[in-house]
Amino acid sequence: MSGQNVGNTALGAATCRLIEQYQPKHFRLFVDPVVGDLVGGLIRTLMRSAWMRRVAVRRMEGMLPGLYGAQVCRTRYIDDVVQSGTGHGIDQLVLLGAGLDTRPYRLPGVGGVTVFELDLPALQVRKQARLRNCLRSLPDNVRFVPVDFDVDDLGTILAKAGFDRSRPAVFVWEGVTQYITEARAQDADLRGRLRHRLYPRVHLCPTKRRRAPVTRSWSRCADGLLDR
Ligand SMILES: C[S@@+](CC[C@H](N)C(=O)[O-])C[C@H]1O[C@@H](n2cnc3c(N)ncnc32)[C@H](O)[C@@H]1O
Repeated sequence: MSGQNVGNTALGAATCRLIEQYQPKHFRLFVDPVVGDLVGGLIRTLMRSAWMRRVAVRRMEGMLPGLYGAQVCRTRYIDDVVQSGTGHGIDQLVLLGAGLDTRPYRLPGVGGVTVFELDLPALQVRKQARLRNCLRSLPDNVRFVPVDFDVDDLGTILAKAGFDRSRPAVFVWEGVTQYITEARAQDADLRGRLRHRLYPRVHLCPTKRRRAPVTRSWSRCADGLLDR
């Protein structure tokens, strides 16, 4: 996949989060007041239409049944993991392949955490411009770290960005591994390196499973939207 197409995958995930904002309040898995600004004017305008949202979700379901629900359930699950970590005093958050992730700008408790947003440089430039538009300025606690996982050494890149490997951190690696070359994934085994070599103190936060979001089946999420 080309760099541009890989970047577009971030748009797809963010569009799911935007669509979720139109769910009834009692059914919505999370509140994201920033995502509309990040996806840009055209998608934001299109998604205001219930008909367009139905078309978008149907299209996703046609590609892979349960895709929409999978995206929003994983967002909520990871939100809970991050908040569990920050609630336990962890003050570093690393978003690997952050895309249009809005957690640093919407989750309570993340304001005091040093956040490392890692992604391809072109995507980061676009994201920062849109964030400046909606937030006026970028928060001091967020560091944008350009990277190409297929080429760069993660340890070196993070050290340069000021990551403190002597302190625990929450790492989020959401919807990214499928875009890294197989050779790279097998060669570097980034996951293993994170846990055992580079950062032996990486803390994987246990989360309490919350019944409602977890038991809501992925396809039912999509059906709920399609029915309205
Ligand atoms: C499907 S998006 C997921 C984005 C975000 N984590 C989310 O869940 O919304 C995949 C992300 O991985 C990034 N990515 C893919 N290959 C990459 C690479 N070789 N180096 C750095 N980032 C990469 C893309 O730019 C994109 O933002």
